[in-house]
Amino acid sequence: MGTPAKTGAPVTLTIDGFPVTVPEGTSVMRAAAEAGIAVPKLCATDSLEAFGSCRLCVVEIEGRRGTPASCTTPVAEGMAVHTQSSKVKKIRKGVMELYVSDHPLDCLTCSANGDCELQDMAGMVGLRDVRYTPGENHYDPSGTGARSQAEARLRLPGGEANPRYIRKDESNPYFTYDPSKCIVCSRCVRACEEVQGTFALTIEGRGFESRVKAGMEGDDFLSSDCVSCGACVQACPTATLQEKSVAEMGTPERSVVTTCAYCGVGCSFKAE
Ligand code: FES
Repeated sequence: MGTPAKTGAPVTLTIDGFPVTVPEGTSVMRAAAEAGIAVPKLCATDSLEAFGSCRLCVVEIEGRRGTPASCTTPVAEGMAVHTQSSKVKKIRKGVMELYVSDHPLDCLTCSANGDCELQDMAGMVGLRDVRYTPGENHYDPSGTGARSQAEARLRLPGGEANPRYIRKDESNPYFTYDPSKCIVCSRCVRACEEVQGTFALTIEGRGFESRVKAGMEGDDFLSSDCVSCGACVQACPTATLQEKSVAEMGTPERSVVTTCAYCGVGCSFKAE
C-alpha cells in the first residue's frame, strides 16, 4: 500500500496518537494501515509502486510544513502523523469534489455501481455536494452541455466528435475502455508496465486534456501492444476499463484470488 512491504530496521512513530512500529522505508500510508487506520486513496494500490498523483491521501506531520501524500512519504523515527485533522479533511473533500465534478453522475445506471472506488472515496471523505455542476459554472469547452470535462473533450463546438479524442473503445474482445469515466490516476498504465511488463498504455496531454491512450496515434486497444492480460482492468478504480462480462451480467457476488505456481513471479488471478 503506497510502497511494497519493506524489511529494514524497525522504526516507531505515532499515527493519530497510536504508536506503530514498521520497517524502515515503509510508507506512512502502509504504517497507518498497520495501525488499523484507513487513509483515503485513489492512485495507490497494494501491488503498484507509489505514484503520489491523486493527493487524496494527504496527512499532517508535526514539525513539517505542508500536507504530504502519505503513500509517497517514508516513515521516520519519532514521527507524529495526523490523518484526521480538519485541514486534511478539508483538502480531501475539495480534491474529491473536483474529481466528481469531472465525472458522469450516472452511478445508479453504471455497471460499476457498488464496486467503484471513486464512489467509495466520496463516501469516505464525506462528500455530499459538488459546487461545480454541468451547465452552470462547469467548464464546457465544447458548449454542448456535456456532463463532464471528459465528455466535453470528446466533442467539438457544434457537437460533432473531436477526432483528437477517442470515444468508448470496444475493440478488445474482453474489456471496454470508456474515457468519459477516467480519472487519470494512471493505475492502468503502471499495471501494464509493472505487472505485465508491457508498455501498451501512456498518458497523453495535460490537465483536463490528459487521457489514457493505447498504442500510437490512431490505435485502439486491439491494434496496440496490449496482450489482453487484464492487469489494467483489475487496477482501474472506476468503470473506465471494464470486463465485457461484468458490463453484461453485473458484478459477481464472490471472487477467488489464486496465485499461479508455475514460476517464481507470483502472478495472481481473480476467478469470478
Ligand atoms: Fe497517495 Fe494518491 S493515494 S497521492
